[in-house]
Amino acid sequence: MLYLWLRDGRGGHMIGKRKVVWDLCSGLGGWTEAFAQSDWVVIRIDNNPDLEYVPFTRIWDVKDWMDWIDELPHPDLVVASPPCQEFSTANPVSRLDFDPDMSIVQACLDIIDYSKPRNWVLENVKGACPYIRKLIGHHRQFIGPFFLWGNFPFLDDRRIRGYQKNIASEKSRTRSAQEVAMIPFEISFQLKRSFEHQERITRWC
Ligand SMILES: C[S@@+](CC[C@H](N)C(=O)[O-])C[C@H]1O[C@@H](n2cnc3c(N)ncnc32)[C@H](O)[C@@H]1O
Repeated sequence: MLYLWLRDGRGGHMIGKRKVVWDLCSGLGGWTEAFAQSDWVVIRIDNNPDLEYVPFTRIWDVKDWMDWIDELPHPDLVVASPPCQEFSTANPVSRLDFDPDMSIVQACLDIIDYSKPRNWVLENVKGACPYIRKLIGHHRQFIGPFFLWGNFPFLDDRRIRGYQKNIASEKSRTRSAQEVAMIPFEISFQLKRSFEHQERITRWC
């Protein structure tokens, strides 16, 4: 949560608060697009300098998290999409006897562990399931090609089904790797809606 203060010579007073989402390995920012279009504070972190133009992106390495984490406002929600090329079933080296580098996934989990957000989601491809399962257990949900682990309110995928067909039918050959990996707006929208709905319910408890 980010608290907004007005300085008034008497110590100031709070004029508002905004929820904060961190988007780790943010790419084109798909996970947090619905949040960016509302009143959330969005912080995107990616180490690819070519993505400097994506709004709210800081060009940082998640593995260096100890260098920057205390600069940021506390997150209500953390989403993470570590790179998936190694795990992709299209990649012939992706086999059970293959030992992929889990250091970026681990860095994302360490960030989540340290920052203790209310909810978090880690996304990856089906081929990553056996490796991520060893670290944090079974995935909680999948929507089309997007497998989701974490602590988050279930996303109503009935509302996303129409889009799943589009994901499946799109020819990925015509899109860049970043575009193929981008989380669709509908999933970002459902995550934001589920998070906010859950908050409204707990207010009554
Ligand atoms: C699967 S893509 C993310 C897609 C994103 N969720 C979206 O909706 O566009 C993975 C991203 O991780 C970034 N990345 C790879 N290694 C990283 C690191 N060590 N620190 C931060 N970002 C990293 C890549 O540059 C890439 O943009």
